[in-house]
Amino acid sequence: MKLQVVTVFSAILAVVSAHDVRIHRQHAKVARQDTKVLAASGSSSAASSAASSATVSASGATSQPTAATSPTVTSAGIPAGVSLPPQPTGDISIPALSSITSGMPTAATLPVTATYTPGALPSYTGAVPLPSTSFVYVASEWPTADHPAPTDSPQVKEWLKEIEGVNIPDIPVTVDGACAQTPANVAKSAQYGWWTCSGTTRSTDIVSCPTKYDWGTTFDDGPAPYSTPTLLKFLKEKDIKSTFFVVGSRAVERPQVLIEEYMDGHEIGCHTWAHSPMTSLTNEQIVAELGWSREAIRRVLGVTCRVWRPPYGDVDDRVRAIATAMGLTTSIWTATPSGGKFDTNDWQVAGGNENAIQQYLNFQSILGNASLLDTGFIVLQHDLFEITVDLAVGYTINAALTHNPPFTLKPVGECNGIAMRDMYMETTTNQTYLDQRKAAQAGQSSNSTSSNSTTGSGNTSTSGKSAGFAVSALTSLPVLGAFGAGALALLI
Ligand SMILES: *[C@@H]1O[C@H](CO)[C@@H](O)[C@H](O)[C@H]1NC(C)=O
Ligand SMILES: *[C@@H]1O[C@H](CO)[C@@H](O)[C@H](O)[C@H]1NC(C)=O
Ligand SMILES: *[C@@H]1O[C@H](CO)[C@@H](O)[C@H](O)[C@H]1NC(C)=O
Ligand SMILES: *[C@@H]1O[C@H](CO)[C@@H](O)[C@H](O)[C@H]1NC(C)=O
Ligand SMILES: *[C@@H]1O[C@H](CO)[C@@H](O)[C@H](O)[C@H]1NC(C)=O
Repeated sequence: MKLQVVTVFSAILAVVSAHDVRIHRQHAKVARQDTKVLAASGSSSAASSAASSATVSASGATSQPTAATSPTVTSAGIPAGVSLPPQPTGDISIPALSSITSGMPTAATLPVTATYTPGALPSYTGAVPLPSTSFVYVASEWPTADHPAPTDSPQVKEWLKEIEGVNIPDIPVTVDGACAQTPANVAKSAQYGWWTCSGTTRSTDIVSCPTKYDWGTTFDDGPAPYSTPTLLKFLKEKDIKSTFFVVGSRAVERPQVLIEEYMDGHEIGCHTWAHSPMTSLTNEQIVAELGWSREAIRRVLGVTCRVWRPPYGDVDDRVRAIATAMGLTTSIWTATPSGGKFDTNDWQVAGGNENAIQQYLNFQSILGNASLLDTGFIVLQHDLFEITVDLAVGYTINAALTHNPPFTLKPVGECNGIAMRDMYMETTTNQTYLDQRKAAQAGQSSNSTSSNSTTGSGNTSTSGKSAGFAVSALTSLPVLGAFGAGALALLI
């Protein structure tokens, strides 16, 4: 059934852009009440197996099918014997599963439910106060939102010192972080540690929770105006803490929502500035993407993340080495030995590729793998879209809470025994880490004898063209700019 849906939808897309199959990404315009939000779905990396049938050009965005051509489902789509979880009570109202579809009408933007005075102190041990003045977003002080940050700014030049002398593997940049587009890297995927095409992880990555049946809760791509406040309210009611992997471009636009996440006791991790496929960037661009997301969160919260998640899970040993030198540990969602991924695929519903019932049933099936693992697992969800929050709040998490055997929902740091204060550079007391940071900031890493400079890997061009999709496709998407702050590129 899943394949049928994907195939039918892909066939429509193929007609739309039969001649341009370079970019595995589709965009569907989603009409909201007053605003328009660009929902786009990426299949290039995590869903690489399906990529060949779901290719479409970014420039095809404006002629994408709208909700009318999305798969429609009814309650009849729920198989006999499948019971849906109980619905949230109180004032959180979630649509029926069968009516959650790409392009559905959405509620108005929600305000934050709590505001905090500058200098307020978070409740975890060792916390530092929020910044003494409220963050005000001045666009001219930041790179263009949702575009890979330029590498010639004074800030990036400073951050580049953190990778000086670091031994960065000489792995060529990929095209769009996509397996099909970069066969030479695929051939060496395991050697390169390229997760996208071989699922390869390294022992330094955080990719599971050690305790069996622990459910590492993560929400990526926010903070978002409608969805995150609803999610935060629900998580508070259920006393669940999550990790939020925050996109820098969203953090500066929605600082109050980010502050609420943090003050509610959730962990905050970095998710780059512009949600770029990181293996497609030069070393310098990677530094810029990571540096600006660190900076965005630091300016709003007063703390700098130590854990980051690569968009699309697109990481290889070159990207890892740079992230590590910048003080960032890589965290991805769990895959089973047979390759099944704990990806809820909620983004596929937002992108119009999969209907909500099928998404729910598929993920319940993936959860069957939990019993096969010796460890717990980390689950990928999103808070950027109302649809993905509806799916989480109404269905996925509610089902987790009533599952037998029971799952224990925790943020990824906590489930790995990392104290909250050790999630941030300003508050950690981990001496090993602090020593590494000190060395890196002084531009004298422990591997300073390495002859490989930062220019040794791939491409040092900052023209943008060398970055393949990351720059060229985004800049070819006028629709992104047209929607301004509401333009939300997608997203796993
Ligand atoms: C594991 O997940 C896959 C989907 O990735 C599913 O087809 C399979 O049935 C699951 N295994 C179990 C034992 O539930
Ligand atoms: C301390 O930091 C190092 C380097 O980042 C890491 O390998 C180690 O696991 C950390 N220890 C704790 C207890 O967090
Ligand atoms: C320095 O680089 C070498 C060669 O890649 C590696 O074997 C060694 O572990 C590195 N040392 C440190 C402290 O990172
Ligand atoms: C340094 O870079 C060269 C290519 O520029 C590569 O052949 C070599 O393996 C690299 N050395 C290390 C220690 O990674
Ligand atoms: C570096 O970029 C140039 C163009 O800017 C391109 O011709 C060249 O192939 C790139 N090299 C690598 C290793 O990607």
